[in-house]
Amino acid sequence: MLNVSDYRVSYGQSEIVHGLNFSVKPNEIVAVMGRNGMGKTTLMKSLIGVIPSSGGQISLDGKNVTPLKSYQRVEQGMSYVPQGRMIFSSMTVRENIETGLTTTGRRTVPKDLYDLFPVLLDMRNRRGGNLSGGQQQQLAIARALASDPKLLMLDEPTEGIQPSIIKEIAQTLKDIRDHRGLTIVVTEQVLSFALDVADRILVVEKGQVVHEEARATVDAQKVASYLSV
Ligand SMILES: Nc1ncnc2c1ncn2[C@@H]1O[C@H](COP(=O)(O)OP(=O)(O)O)[C@@H](O)[C@H]1O
Ligand SMILES: [Mg+2]
Repeated sequence: MLNVSDYRVSYGQSEIVHGLNFSVKPNEIVAVMGRNGMGKTTLMKSLIGVIPSSGGQISLDGKNVTPLKSYQRVEQGMSYVPQGRMIFSSMTVRENIETGLTTTGRRTVPKDLYDLFPVLLDMRNRRGGNLSGGQQQQLAIARALASDPKLLMLDEPTEGIQPSIIKEIAQTLKDIRDHRGLTIVVTEQVLSFALDVADRILVVEKGQVVHEEARATVDAQKVASYLSV
């Protein structure tokens, strides 16, 4: 579904992602783990096209999307939930979700999104800024799903979220993978969440994949050792 090869991203003279390679199979959930500053956000922003790459290629479903702008990548089926959620705080919940509809031609929020997140239906006329962190995370996921993606990318979705809600987010991601046939890439630092949600775990360190394991056979201590400071 997603293939990233010899991928490079720089800020000015400083290269952050150094020839990264990974691929994700259809319907797979892959967790990209790494400590703060290891380049997870840089990678995600670049994959969705918010910041440019300086080398390598991304293909989605066999199509080279590297030359495409961000909105064109969304049209091709990529979708993104940014770190910190970045919901529009003065807009209502409904308006926030509607901003995700632009590529679909739909005008109103499809019912199945509210079925997935009933709390958003109850709160649809509230301002996004008035929601709790967990509710904002659900809103950010709903907004990303509004474009009907094939590939959902989430950057540290558990950051600042309480443990009971983290469990719910893991379950929601597995449900949407199962029922919508989605492929998911999620960056994380919380190992328990990654073990809960992912089929495969990659560890990035200084902009390179340094470790990769299937969930079924994962050596959790080894992954944890990469994450400890
Ligand atoms: N806009 C920027 N300009 C220059 N350097 C940046 C910028 N954003 C991030 N960096 C640097 O890139 C590195 C990776 O950061 P980031 O991708 O945010 O890591 P992570 O998400 O894994 O914490 C860090 O050294 C950070 O200081
Ligand atoms: Mg980050």
